[in-house]
Amino acid sequence: MPIARSRRYSTVAIGFHWTIAALVIANLAIGFFHDALAGTLPGGGMPMHKAIGMTVLALSIARVAWRMSHRPPPLPADTAGWEKGMAHATHWTLYLLLLALPLTGWLMVSGAEMRRPLTWFGLFDIPYLPVGTQAGALGGGAHGLLGLTMAALVALHIAAALRHHLILRDDIMARMVPALMRDGKMTDGVRRG
Ligand code: HEM
Ligand code: HEM
Repeated sequence: MPIARSRRYSTVAIGFHWTIAALVIANLAIGFFHDALAGTLPGGGMPMHKAIGMTVLALSIARVAWRMSHRPPPLPADTAGWEKGMAHATHWTLYLLLLALPLTGWLMVSGAEMRRPLTWFGLFDIPYLPVGTQAGALGGGAHGLLGLTMAALVALHIAAALRHHLILRDDIMARMVPALMRDGKMTDGVRRG
């Protein structure tokens, strides 16, 4: 039985969410563990990290523009004020990081003492930003900090999603993963826990 469309995220929103989530998780892993992964990924992993990151930037610009003109489904009526506040703050900080992380990475490689090739999976060159080494160093410092912040927020975000699905047993997860819908219909937030 199809889910009531107004109760779940649209197919476009779901497509953006899961494509970008997979790319970001891959890039966090390559970023934090590139020494360990160096032998297993082409070119030591960093060319792939940069290309994935630039893809995240392009997709996130499109996603944020799309999100500004399309409202998400409303949260269930019984959601507490603090939960709404936390959800909004986390989601908008995630959007901000989805733009700021690749931008600071781009800044870092553009302002490097010795520039390395910057291509999109070897298919075409990506231009460098017109910046000097000071801006490059600033970008590098920010990139590391923002990477840690992103990892912490994603962990919080996943914990919140699992809390809804496994403890509160409501349909918040099903809004983003329609296959998880219980009893073949959305319940508009009725909790069964
Ligand atoms: C890097 C990884 C991820 C990022 C950057 C991310 C980002 C986001 C953002 C920005 C939203 C808000 C959508 C909107 O209303 O505008 C969202 C919603 C959501 N995400 Fe993620 N997400 C990630 C991974 C995950 C994972 C792994 C799960 C599940 C375990 C998940 C579950 C959800 C759910 C259930 C919602 C809908 C929340 C609601 O209905 O209010 N996300 N995500
Ligand atoms: C979704 C996008 C991205 C994420 C989540 C991400 C995440 C990370 C993380 C977690 C690190 C490790 C930081 C540390 O060891 O302190 C890192 C390092 C790095 N990132 Fe990114 N990054 C992204 C995009 C980019 C982009 C677009 C570029 C360049 C065009 C880039 C270039 C680099 C470089 C060169 C390093 C290595 C820094 C070093 O160890 O000297 N990143 N990234």
